[in-house]
Amino acid sequence: MNRKVAVVTGSSSGIGAATVRRFAKNGYNVVINFSRNAEPARAVADDCQAFGAEVLLYKANVADDADCRALASAVEEKWGRCDALVNNAGTTKFVAAANLEGLNAQDFQDIYAVNVIGAYQMIRAFAPLMKRNPGAGIVNVSSVASVSGIGSSVAYMASKGALNAMTFGLARALAPEVRINAVGPGMVETPWLQNGLGPERYEAIRQTYIKSTPMSATIAPEDVADACFWLCDGARKTTGEFILIDSGRTKFPLL
Ligand SMILES: NC(=O)c1ccc[n+]([C@@H]2O[C@H](COP(=O)([O-])OP(=O)(O)OC[C@H]3O[C@@H](n4cnc5c(N)ncnc54)[C@H](OP(=O)(O)O)[C@@H]3O)[C@@H](O)[C@H]2O)c1
Repeated sequence: MNRKVAVVTGSSSGIGAATVRRFAKNGYNVVINFSRNAEPARAVADDCQAFGAEVLLYKANVADDADCRALASAVEEKWGRCDALVNNAGTTKFVAAANLEGLNAQDFQDIYAVNVIGAYQMIRAFAPLMKRNPGAGIVNVSSVASVSGIGSSVAYMASKGALNAMTFGLARALAPEVRINAVGPGMVETPWLQNGLGPERYEAIRQTYIKSTPMSATIAPEDVADACFWLCDGARKTTGEFILIDSGRTKFPLL
């Protein structure tokens, strides 16, 4: 009856799936969210239920404000609380930074709609419910691209920079009841880059990443999940922070 509740957007795959499993394993009831493909979400739901969690499997596009508000109402109706929100759903277009003609205004708008406005809409929809549980935490899944100038496209880098700024801007506004932080993963081994780069480029970039990081490693989805969980469930005096999870590559590259 007293289990806490975590909502993780984009939790049918990759970082979101690992994060929602982490919450379920640690005693939370969870929302598993996706916008297109229900099949992988069902498999993640099975894993979470095996940890004893109640699961709400919810199709919602975070770029659609009505979807965000309907999800918040569904959580309020089912459990009456929300202790953790991880804004993980994201999108991009793979365009080399030097290819200035490769991005148009619509590309920027499509990417911002999910990565920036989607996170804002989720926070706005959930804030009243989260404020009822002092100590609640929000994590925005940003990227090293927001600070390194390296990423799938300039529009993506800019959107994650905006997400960081939004995190800082809301830290005061949501305090003292709700903390909000951001994480900046480096190269995480998920379908995101595998599909976006194709197998050969993916492997080449993976090898370069491993050689150029002090920790000689790419990032596992579970590494990011650990940080998201700690920032929501622990980190009682941390708000408005941006934490890199990149094996040290952005600040201390070897190459
Ligand atoms: N992989 C990396 O190297 C890396 C590095 C830094 C940051 N990140 C960030 O980490 C986050 C997750 O990436 P990932 O690598 O785990 O990607 P992934 O494996 O491709 O998973 C993306 C998830 O987001 C969902 N999704 C996409 N658009 C959505 C929308 N509009 N509304 C709701 N759900 C949506 C997808 O399900 P549907 O397709 O069914 O909607 C899926 O569950 C993204 O924000 C990304 O920018 C990734």
